[in-house]
Amino acid sequence: DDSFDEECDYLFKSVLIGDSAVGKSNLLSRFARDQFQLDSKPTIGVEFAYRNIRVGDKLIKAQIWDTAGQERFRAITSSYYRGALGALLVYDITRRTTFENLRKWLHELREYGSSDMVIVLVGNKSDLSNSSRQVNIEDGQSLAQLEGLSFLETSAMENLNVEEAFLQMINKIH
Ligand code: GTP
Ligand code: MG
Repeated sequence: DDSFDEECDYLFKSVLIGDSAVGKSNLLSRFARDQFQLDSKPTIGVEFAYRNIRVGDKLIKAQIWDTAGQERFRAITSSYYRGALGALLVYDITRRTTFENLRKWLHELREYGSSDMVIVLVGNKSDLSNSSRQVNIEDGQSLAQLEGLSFLETSAMENLNVEEAFLQMINKIH
């Protein structure tokens, strides 16, 4: 609410990136509104959500930007990254290609993002681990270690580690 805004100590911009249909928009709606949609549509352009968080004695307004994984639906890349302090880099543990494309996303992050951005690598859809996993947890861990990122597997559907992923990012920002 407005009174919170006035008392807010920090505004943190962060961004979600990763291939189409990895679950970026559902991770955000789970974190911001505790909602999940089984039949969500691809994002077109840019969407935003906010969540106010208390970290110690500080009030933080987390402003999270979400864009399309599909090139043709994306907005201007440089403005998407401008001022962003953190990023959730998301792949889908049931689709190997989304993991292989992380190389491309990391390249974009380094080109447009600030060098001290906090990046959390997220392997989403862990609820499908037993039935259709294509990326081992160890693959995520070793990429994260190699690139100096935090790492978590999440399920937006079952609300597993979603809060933790965003809070890890937000906590590391300051
Ligand atoms: P773009 O906007 O096109 O970049 O896609 P996105 O990354 O925002 O994906 P979105 O959140 O729209 O989710 C794509 C599909 O995956 C939807 O059908 C979701 O219901 C589904 N999905 C998202 N997260 C999960 C999850 O944790 N588990 C399962 N089983 N399905 C999920
Ligand atoms: Mg989306």
